[in-house]
Amino acid sequence: MSIYSTLRSVMRFRRFERDPVARRLRKAANVADLRRIAKRRLPRGVFDYIDGGAEDEYALNRNSAVFRDAVFRPRVLRNVGKVDASTTILGKRVPFPLVLAPTGFTRIADSPGELAVARAAARAEIPYTLSTLGTRSIEEVAAVSDGRKWFQVYVWKDRGLVAEMLDRAAAAAYEAIVITVDTAVLGRRERDVRRGFSLPPKLGPGTVIDGMVHPGWTWDFVNADPISFANVTGKTVGDGADAISLAEYVGKQFDPGLSWDDIAWFREHWDGPIVLKGVQTVEDALIAAEHDIAAVALSNHGGRQLDGAPAPLHLVDPVAEAVGDRVEVICDGGVRRGSDIVKAVALGATACMAGRAYLYGLGAAGERGVDFVLDHLSQGVEQTMTLVGATTIDELEPNLVNLA
Ligand SMILES: Cc1cc2nc3c(=O)[nH]c(=O)nc-3n(C[C@H](O)[C@H](O)[C@H](O)COP(=O)(O)O)c2cc1C
Repeated sequence: MSIYSTLRSVMRFRRFERDPVARRLRKAANVADLRRIAKRRLPRGVFDYIDGGAEDEYALNRNSAVFRDAVFRPRVLRNVGKVDASTTILGKRVPFPLVLAPTGFTRIADSPGELAVARAAARAEIPYTLSTLGTRSIEEVAAVSDGRKWFQVYVWKDRGLVAEMLDRAAAAAYEAIVITVDTAVLGRRERDVRRGFSLPPKLGPGTVIDGMVHPGWTWDFVNADPISFANVTGKTVGDGADAISLAEYVGKQFDPGLSWDDIAWFREHWDGPIVLKGVQTVEDALIAAEHDIAAVALSNHGGRQLDGAPAPLHLVDPVAEAVGDRVEVICDGGVRRGSDIVKAVALGATACMAGRAYLYGLGAAGERGVDFVLDHLSQGVEQTMTLVGATTIDELEPNLVNLA
């Protein structure tokens, strides 16, 4: 054999991919890869707004570290020829136990924003949660998705506005509301402080240069409709169309006086299930169980609020143990792989929520990036179940995981 034919037999050339999005996705094997691609594509201030956490980012880092350090006790020889990751969330079937978390200002990652994420969630047949601070409105999202939709509520001081949003969510067939209870004030996100980051980003000399070195994002941003808090457009509370600091906005508009008594007010204004997001102790989960709450989302807001907050995965087992089957338990924060979801569910969670995972996908490759993430997480759940010897979600039990 000549050197030429030997070389030809061992070399493999991949066809050049003309589609730039497909080219980017071809380089990604997981969520961490998409994060790296998003970091390259997005202006630094935008990436840091998505990626960052409060203060020293201890809570942010702890969320992932606890998943990393939890180790399986895999069982073998259990006939795992057929694995079914489907389960129910709020009583309805899902192909795997995940809900997409609400993220404000999603259009900052890619201009279709919440519409892209809602469509991808509908295709994956899992619930999507629209944030009160969404950059697409309740109605716009409903128009593109007949999948399951939840509406996240920040409680404005103006309760009339909240009641009106709940009516709109009901009219648009949203299934549940998610009241976020960890944001009496906004956490101190120091990456944003350092960069003087505002929503939408202000154009100063720094941002112009940042924009020039990220032309893909900038082209998309300047050609799309201006970004604003679409759910409150035309209201007196301001819709973020003019650059504002998020901390200032939250301080002015949200009600820090919110208490357990207010849950009765929500019950009067919302017929469907209520999820409380931001519960961080067994005590509060038990109080929630006495308030006609369908699910608690154990969450420290992805490490963006209280930096000394516990990691949600650490709370799953004690909370699930305490509340029994009175409320469903959702574990929110740090999910980057299907194996993370399996760990949380084994410890007693009904499902996980994920925020940044899909935002990295959106920032890296738009709607197809979100599809990629959901597919990756779903496959990861099945593969992990197979490797730990569980063929159904019911077989995932606490003794399959050792928490560090
Ligand atoms: C960019 C960004 C914006 C967010 N906006 C909201 C919001 O508007 N309402 C809310 O309840 N939580 C918000 N969160 C928190 C998420 O719902 C979720 O709790 C968090 O992302 C979970 O952590 P993970 O990103 O590690 O999955 C936001 C998170 C991020 C990263």
